[in-house]
Amino acid sequence: MDYKNSVAAKIKEHVELELEAIEKLIEIPPKPEMGDYAFPCFQFAKTFRKAPNMIAAELAEKINKEGFEKIEALGPYVNFFMDKGTFVKATIDKVLSEGDKYGASEIGKGKNVTIDYSSPNIAKPFHVGHLFSTAIGNSLYKMLSFEGYNCVGINHLGDWGTQFGKLIAAYKRWADEDALQKEPIKELLRIYVKFHDEAEKDPALEDEGRMYFKKLEDGSKEEVELWEKFKNLSLKEFDKVYETLGVKFDSYAGESFYNDKMDAVVKDIEDKGLLVESNGAKVVMMEEENMPPCIIKKADGATIYATRDLAAAFYRKNNYDFYKSIYVVGSDQSLHFKQVFKVIEKMGYDWAEKCKHVGFGLIRFADRKLSTRRGQVIFLEDLLNEAVGKTREVIEEKNPELENKEDVAKKVGIGAVIFTYLKNRREKDIVFKWDEMLNFEGETGPYVQYTYARGKSILRRAGEVSGEADFSKLTSKEEFELVKVLGGFNEEILDAIDKLEPSIVTRYTIEVAKAFNKFYNAHNIMATEELEVKNARLKMVEATCQVIKNALSLLGIEVVEKM
Ligand code: ARG
Repeated sequence: MDYKNSVAAKIKEHVELELEAIEKLIEIPPKPEMGDYAFPCFQFAKTFRKAPNMIAAELAEKINKEGFEKIEALGPYVNFFMDKGTFVKATIDKVLSEGDKYGASEIGKGKNVTIDYSSPNIAKPFHVGHLFSTAIGNSLYKMLSFEGYNCVGINHLGDWGTQFGKLIAAYKRWADEDALQKEPIKELLRIYVKFHDEAEKDPALEDEGRMYFKKLEDGSKEEVELWEKFKNLSLKEFDKVYETLGVKFDSYAGESFYNDKMDAVVKDIEDKGLLVESNGAKVVMMEEENMPPCIIKKADGATIYATRDLAAAFYRKNNYDFYKSIYVVGSDQSLHFKQVFKVIEKMGYDWAEKCKHVGFGLIRFADRKLSTRRGQVIFLEDLLNEAVGKTREVIEEKNPELENKEDVAKKVGIGAVIFTYLKNRREKDIVFKWDEMLNFEGETGPYVQYTYARGKSILRRAGEVSGEADFSKLTSKEEFELVKVLGGFNEEILDAIDKLEPSIVTRYTIEVAKAFNKFYNAHNIMATEELEVKNARLKMVEATCQVIKNALSLLGIEVVEKM
């Protein structure tokens, strides 16, 4: 049962407002003595020509109290106290009967959402920054799908641009074929960095790079084959990362995919009278918007990143007829997306407002300096291996007898990393501190996973639950608080979707774990004397595990049965 719903329904019988508007007004009181929900009456003062306190008193008087412990006025508020037993039973029944679907809805039915995420660059490392986009995008994908939206996950690979001409030049001079097969990205990065070093001494190299890119653009066989080779080698490496993380895409249409789709967009921009010449380049002016001009074609006629993003936006609109088009890309690209969306708006397409840039901050490490010098990046693969290794050490120390240690270390270690990425508001920078993120008692992934495993261990010890369960007795503070948290899952997901902010659900998993641990510490479940109460408590444990599992899975984190 959704209590907020029934509160709203009761109010609706007496005021002239839509159900939705009433739900928006309903508040959660700051103190439990003030009830579970409160309805403020200020806004009716004008229509009823009465003081809000009076209105609240009259409303409380008139409202049908069925299903509630009490409903009473306090100042300008009507406070609702749920009937705890009914609520506890209804919530736990709902969680257990819906299982893996608990928290889901059909709210997004018939709405398509494209999500552009991860989108690493070919021949470059998949670095710690790309996991930010990957984790947020993957999680939004899961949440939106869970709520009935039809999602299209797009990996907008950086697979085009002048750098590929340079890479071909570097390849022809310095590539070590063996190294390329063994560690492709490291080798491609090595020769790319070497190209830049050498080009400083010999600027003619730059011309060579440009020459090769021209050949590539013109479809010259040898260059195209090399480019494909780099792309395939890179994709194989990226796929390993995606496999480890359990991340999937519906489309790998990268930048090169739009090569033959840009002319039409550029022509449309021109036809709308927006394309102007500036220093030889073709641009769209954005003075009124206080932004620098958006370059569409460079002086040499070449298109750029923005041109490809414009073509991609139109392609997505035409192919997927999206309700929303989401771009999960670092906040350092926020100007780029503002410009791209503005160009679309200036062209007269009102769907520009359905395009959303979901930005995020930077990543730093407490124990090392992340130098931005060329070639010095932290490979995600190394970070994940380190996380798994450190988790293995913790397990070795805490629970050396554990079976499947390797599997647990993997799920918990990688889970800890993802959790760290998704824990705070995405615009905030992240500072990685290993002891903090692997702490089983902090606000961490391992803490939430440990809570799940603890619940599962109780259930294993209890064995098959037989006989009645009496939920009406689970009304202690800790029990009621836990069930309230469990009951609020769907609302948290909807809020996370609304704000495109997975951290809302991450925080929620911490709330569930905390509420569960309070309950667990206050009541000795296995020693409960009355069988119906013990059974009810076990059901509550089962429901908690179910909610943790569902919530973590929306973040892309797996649970383990023992740890
Ligand atoms: N490849 C880019 C990078 O690594 C991100 C691409 C994001 N998506 C887009 N449609 N521009 O920074």
